[in-house]
Amino acid sequence: MDTIDRQEFLRQTALAGAALLMSSVELFAEEQQRKVKVGVIGCGSVSTQYLPHLSRSPFVELVSTCDIIFDRAKKAAEKYQIKNSYPSIEKMLAGVPFDLLINLTDMQEHGRLNVLALNGGKNVWSEKPMANSYREGKALLELAASKKLRIWGAPAVVNSPQFAFMSKAIQEGKLGKVSSAHAHYGHLGPTWSAFFYEKGGGSLPDLGVYNLATLTGLLGPAKNVMAMTSIVTPQRTVDNKGKITVEAEDNAMVLMDHGNGTISHVQCGFNFFDPYGHEGKGQEKQTITIWGTHGNMGLVGYDWAPFGVDLATHDHEETQRFATDTKGYVWQEGASVISKSMVTGEEPLIAAQHALHVLEIIEAARTSGQTGKKIAIESTFKWPVV
Ligand SMILES: NC(=O)c1ccc[n+]([C@@H]2O[C@H](COP(=O)([O-])OP(=O)(O)OC[C@H]3O[C@@H](n4cnc5c(N)ncnc54)[C@H](O)[C@@H]3O)[C@@H](O)[C@H]2O)c1
Repeated sequence: MDTIDRQEFLRQTALAGAALLMSSVELFAEEQQRKVKVGVIGCGSVSTQYLPHLSRSPFVELVSTCDIIFDRAKKAAEKYQIKNSYPSIEKMLAGVPFDLLINLTDMQEHGRLNVLALNGGKNVWSEKPMANSYREGKALLELAASKKLRIWGAPAVVNSPQFAFMSKAIQEGKLGKVSSAHAHYGHLGPTWSAFFYEKGGGSLPDLGVYNLATLTGLLGPAKNVMAMTSIVTPQRTVDNKGKITVEAEDNAMVLMDHGNGTISHVQCGFNFFDPYGHEGKGQEKQTITIWGTHGNMGLVGYDWAPFGVDLATHDHEETQRFATDTKGYVWQEGASVISKSMVTGEEPLIAAQHALHVLEIIEAARTSGQTGKKIAIESTFKWPVV
């Protein structure tokens, strides 16, 4: 066996280290150059949150915007120096090529537009819900797989450090056997667009969806669902249509059975007096609470904008606050995170199967509300998430 002296060994190690550093620098530079070409459809309210985030991402090249109110697409393109804008998805898909469609349109349009995009060879990030029914959502995932494309759906709540803290605490047994959980989210409802209140809209896919994603993400896929839903305010006035009749539930209570005896509850609606409003600023209370045989835990702030986790256990009965880090995660990051994962190849925490599972729960909650029956859930997703 050859032997080398200490000096030669150090020289060789330094060379190998430099080579390794070079290759990781090159790899980084290469990643910096590779960008996902993005087309954004729907240039309304939420696009004003997505576009600034996307435009700052080193993994994104914003290629085109689209809105059936063409002026909105043109104005958004101008503001973010995006070269192309279109008045319809057909024109957008036939126009300048891109890799990822970001769908920020009315909820009722998501399924139809997502199918068109996949058939047009695009990957998809969809605002919630990714489709109008569980069946349509399942078909979307199958279509994507058959075309070797990917589809992902909002929300991005599993990305927060607070979600990670809670998930780890549960997995490490800090709460003992988890028995019960509660989550709530509501305000007085959006005032700008009618679709939130029309058939296919509702407080469940707009608001409850966050809590449903958080609780299933923490406690595991739901096996059964029971619910009551109602309409509290039958008529509303909205900016784009004036006086409208509310058709979708604006008030919902959903019970989920996660198996092993764990039961949780989500409460959401468009009739919650809430001084924190749609933006949620200043919400300092717990909106999610989880109890087990050895401890309890509460998420402080909304699950889409959390800023701490309060934990009390039988080893430390006095409540302590953890996970107060609010840097990094923001709720509107989903499409940017997905773009990064498309470049780096790292699998994101956000999973299409989880979004589909939540969609099935929403549909089951409505069926349960109408029939008074307990509804079995067939879908599942990879769990634990963290
Ligand atoms: N507004 C928010 O703060 C917010 C936050 C999180 C998620 N969301 C979700 O984002 C989605 C959009 O909500 P919003 O508040 O931005 O609504 P919005 O009404 O402000 O914007 C929707 C836009 O989509 C356009 N559109 C509708 N159908 C289209 C089509 N077929 N092709 C092209 N454009 C079309 C509309 O003209 C409109 O400009 C919903 O799923 C909502 O639940 C909204």
